[in-house]
Amino acid sequence: MTTPIAHEALPPGVTTLADHERHARSVLDDAHWAYLFGAAADEITASRNIEAWRALELLPRVLQPVAGGHTRVELLGRTLAHPILIAPMACQGLAHPHAEHATALAAAALGAGLVLSTQASVSLEDIAAAYLPQSGRGPLWFQLYLQPDRAFTAELVQRAEAAGFEALVLTVDAPVQGARDSERRSGFRLPAGMGAVNLAGLRHPPPRALAEGQSALFDDLLTHAPGWDDVAWLRSVTRLPVLLKGVLHPDDARQAVASGASGLIVSNHGGRTLDTAVTTAASLPRIAQAVSGDLPLLVDGGIRRGTDVLKAIGLGANAVLVGRPVLHGLATAGATGVAHVLRLLRDELEIAMALTGCRTLAQAASVLAPAGR
Ligand code: FNR
Ligand code: LAC
Repeated sequence: MTTPIAHEALPPGVTTLADHERHARSVLDDAHWAYLFGAAADEITASRNIEAWRALELLPRVLQPVAGGHTRVELLGRTLAHPILIAPMACQGLAHPHAEHATALAAAALGAGLVLSTQASVSLEDIAAAYLPQSGRGPLWFQLYLQPDRAFTAELVQRAEAAGFEALVLTVDAPVQGARDSERRSGFRLPAGMGAVNLAGLRHPPPRALAEGQSALFDDLLTHAPGWDDVAWLRSVTRLPVLLKGVLHPDDARQAVASGASGLIVSNHGGRTLDTAVTTAASLPRIAQAVSGDLPLLVDGGIRRGTDVLKAIGLGANAVLVGRPVLHGLATAGATGVAHVLRLLRDELEIAMALTGCRTLAQAASVLAPAGR
């Protein structure tokens, strides 16, 4: 670790994920809060994501033989102690000075997989060096935004490979930022000295001179946006498995299989890109049906309880990613806070399995009430 991680105690009264959120709100200023926890436009998708998992009902079985049960799952050739990973989230230094160092330490200690954002506030090499040697750790993946400068992107991929990252997560649902009203209203600006350090040296193409009637979006920015060909390009410059993050349509899921993707993350970016996009709980079973086991599926967006994790697995996910609650924990108590959030989710998952009569997660589909299937 380049940053020493001081042990922080949990503040009194913080016993649930919702408590972490409340506490985080009390320690962060309005602009940081708006960036970290805001969503796009009217924030409808962000809140519906949460509601959609809550609305699904479980249909428990009783008197089942659950002794010796476990939360283990198989993912990309590895056995994970449990199916909870940390979603890629930019600029974690905004939540706590220990930033991604604290998140990585907590993730490794709790056996949670970690997906590091392209826009992390610390170096990818530092995170890999701290995370990879920890026994009992989960998988370490690097989230990639393809940059207009493909040579720079290829070098970034080589750096992630050389550092020991085990897969790439190509985010495909954000060719442009969503309409982040709350963020703009708050006047959020990245503080001096904080930024996407792993993109240092990246050159941006000069803005095009637009003719009358042309759009800065369609005729400039989006002329560099990735397409399906770029998935093939990315696979050609790496030996790592490539997962696509941000798929909601079953046809895109089929195309991802055809393009050689090694996995899919069903995601609407936590409602931060397209507002009123379908919830991930609604999209997941349709995608699971479309790809029928051809590749691993993960899901994120609105997972706030162990019961949500059980439901996601029941609807066809192999694992889940958790976003904002991790940053709530980070803001509340650094690495201790993140570890507590992960521990709570895992404990709740075990309790949910025991109370529905699931000895393993392979049984999760059988305990969803029919309306949820
Ligand atoms: C994100 N997310 C995100 N996704 C991504 O692919 N690359 C990124 O750099 C970021 N950055 C980011 C920053 C912040 C502050 C948040 C809250 C989210 C989206 C993230 O990976 C994930 O899809 C959602 O956060 C999942 O929804 P929940 O769990 O936050 O509801
Ligand atoms: C976000 C970008 C970084 O959601 O993905 O803020």
